[in-house]
Amino acid sequence: MKKFLLAAVAVGVVITGVSADTAKGVEKLAKQYGCSGCHAVDKVKAGPPYRLIAKEYKGKPNAKETLVKSVLGGSMMKWQKIGKKYKIKVKMAYMPAQHGVNKEQTEKIIDLILKLDTK
Ligand code: HEC
Repeated sequence: MKKFLLAAVAVGVVITGVSADTAKGVEKLAKQYGCSGCHAVDKVKAGPPYRLIAKEYKGKPNAKETLVKSVLGGSMMKWQKIGKKYKIKVKMAYMPAQHGVNKEQTEKIIDLILKLDTK
């Protein structure tokens, strides 16, 4: 029993460690890629928080493709409606196409965003 408890605690530490790292990784890439002016992991800025984006899209078919396309091609008015569901108000109605990132970089940050803990 004691061994089991110790193992459970160890797993808990590892899991929370990983999710904190994911959030940190997202913040770091977002800063590097010029997204931080409009996005944060947990705060509403001009754009929706990354954690809510993860919550909205996790498990949906083509989540990654959809989001990569939004970043590279721009996205308009989606979050006026989605935001209501989560009781947030996104300040800007659209995200301009992001030219500071290429497809690989965009896929990298989207992969990480979709790994954010959404519980
Ligand atoms: C000028 C402000 C601005 C910048 C810079 C910006 N975003 Fe956005 N972003 C927004 C807004 C506003 C929305 C909501 C768009 C909508 O309602 O359709 C959004 C939405 C998104 C979404 C969700 C798209 C969807 O289809 O639901 C993702 C993912 C995202 N941004 C990632 C990024 C990444 C990654 C970067 C940096 C490369 C970035 N954004 C830079 C303002 C910005």
